[in-house]
Amino acid sequence: MHAMTDLPAWQALMARRAAIERFDLRAAFADDPTRWTRFQLRFEDMLVDYSKHLIDGPTFDLLLDLARQAEVEALRDAMFAGEAINITEGRAVLHTALRNRSGRPVLVDGADVMPEVTVVLERLRKFSEAVRSGAWRGFTGAAITDIVNIGIGGSDLGPHMVCRALRAFADGPRAHFVSNVDPAHLVDTLADLDPRTTLFVIASKTFSTQETMTNAGAARAWLVAALGDEGAVGRHFVAVSTNEQAVRTFGIEPANMFGFWDWVGGRYSLWSAIGLPIALAVGFERFGELLVGAHAMDEHFRSAPLAANLPVVLGALGVLYGNVLGWGSHAVIPYDQRLDRFTAHLQQLDMESNGKFVGRDGQRVRWATGPVVWGEPGTNGQHAFFQLLHQGTRRVPVDFLVAARPSIAEAAMLGPEGMALVEDAHRKLLANCLAQAEALAFGKTHAEARVELERQGLDGGRLEHLLPHKVFEGNRPSTVVLYPELTPRRLGSLIALYEHKVMVQGAIWNVDSFDQWGVELGKALAGEILPELAPDAPPAVGHDASTRGLIDAIRHLA
Ligand code: F6P
Repeated sequence: MHAMTDLPAWQALMARRAAIERFDLRAAFADDPTRWTRFQLRFEDMLVDYSKHLIDGPTFDLLLDLARQAEVEALRDAMFAGEAINITEGRAVLHTALRNRSGRPVLVDGADVMPEVTVVLERLRKFSEAVRSGAWRGFTGAAITDIVNIGIGGSDLGPHMVCRALRAFADGPRAHFVSNVDPAHLVDTLADLDPRTTLFVIASKTFSTQETMTNAGAARAWLVAALGDEGAVGRHFVAVSTNEQAVRTFGIEPANMFGFWDWVGGRYSLWSAIGLPIALAVGFERFGELLVGAHAMDEHFRSAPLAANLPVVLGALGVLYGNVLGWGSHAVIPYDQRLDRFTAHLQQLDMESNGKFVGRDGQRVRWATGPVVWGEPGTNGQHAFFQLLHQGTRRVPVDFLVAARPSIAEAAMLGPEGMALVEDAHRKLLANCLAQAEALAFGKTHAEARVELERQGLDGGRLEHLLPHKVFEGNRPSTVVLYPELTPRRLGSLIALYEHKVMVQGAIWNVDSFDQWGVELGKALAGEILPELAPDAPPAVGHDASTRGLIDAIRHLA
């Protein structure tokens, strides 16, 4: 196990730090006409432009050396080989097996997991087809029109994000997602639903998560009250879990349970039976295409040389900003409205994986680890937080995700001019995306701002007064990920790209990217506070004065 800061490549990067800070994108593009082709990668029909990053050849090489010296490749290979690289939980990390299309066996403790994976996929296919065709009916004999996934974290974010991303392909029951224990979430969702035609998917790896079990219990009460028979539960509830006993105790038969395995982390689980809502909403075939796209990225990750390896390149660039330059956050801005939950999914993927201050060796790390990941779709973000991206004192690398063409599906509903209207709007979307990346990178100098103000007729004190506010420093890096159109396959590749990028960074930072102990303390304290909020509970003892005071205040106000 390494300490990142002891690696020769890190020390070389530190020696170059002043030069990296002075790096000028305008000059770099002017000096090197090949820069745009030099710093881009293609993956199938996806283009990843990273030429607007603060890198030259030597810096880029050192970042790759850092990945090499941190033994990213060894950890990657260990992951694919089914070794227990989640060291604090003693588990293999094999979401890649869920989408393995290579025909190669995947061994965990000497046993091939692929036959089990295939069996569950086949059950998902059969079940999703039965619901979609109307062969599976509700208790009253009505076909299912709506599904409600009740789950949280990885049992919500991934499938929710994918179902929204693939709305153009949705031709099955409408998919709804309830995650928050705030009763408003469930109640607002159920308000528009008919119990006779609603199917609940209770998704929880552990089947013990407070939020999910609370919402599942309330949903069952709603259904039974409406249909007047406990027996209705069997036709309206299915489970996705690794915990058969708890599923049974809840009242769902194993025949209506879809399993997965402890080597699938929650935030990597959308490829497993947790993806059932996806298969229900867009069909099993398209769910399969999603897996194919992810598998293609897996093959790229395991075989491409580091300099041409997308997850490695994007991971290494993140280390440049987070560690060499000390920036703290990373924005992911899809110029693709249907990816409106993509960044939310990435937040769990990235922040739950790499938000750690203890290394794999049990020592406190001496370097920054995972960034704050945030973002909203463009162009909306332009009218909200882009001011800070362009002129704020904090610098934030940005990933722009954008499709070259709109989905044809939307055109028809806009009437005879539909296609032209959609194409026009989409071109505006593209223009804005490229403009933002250009503005961030190249900004506007004092001299340019002065000329612009003069052209507007300003001079003297008014011009001098406004001038500093009109300057854009530029040198703000971004990546553009361009794809022809958002399809299940490309979405699969895109998600897998980020999964592997997170792994690469975790390897460099030497943290266990696959556990999540940091979520436990809050859960335990909530368990202690819960009974103290009951109306007839004695005054709270213990805690700190603030928490005690708030408990007391709630009891008075409630
Ligand atoms: O809160 C953390 C977490 O354990 C996540 O890692 C997980 O995705 C989520 O809770 C939900 O867990 P489960 O699927 O077991 O309900």
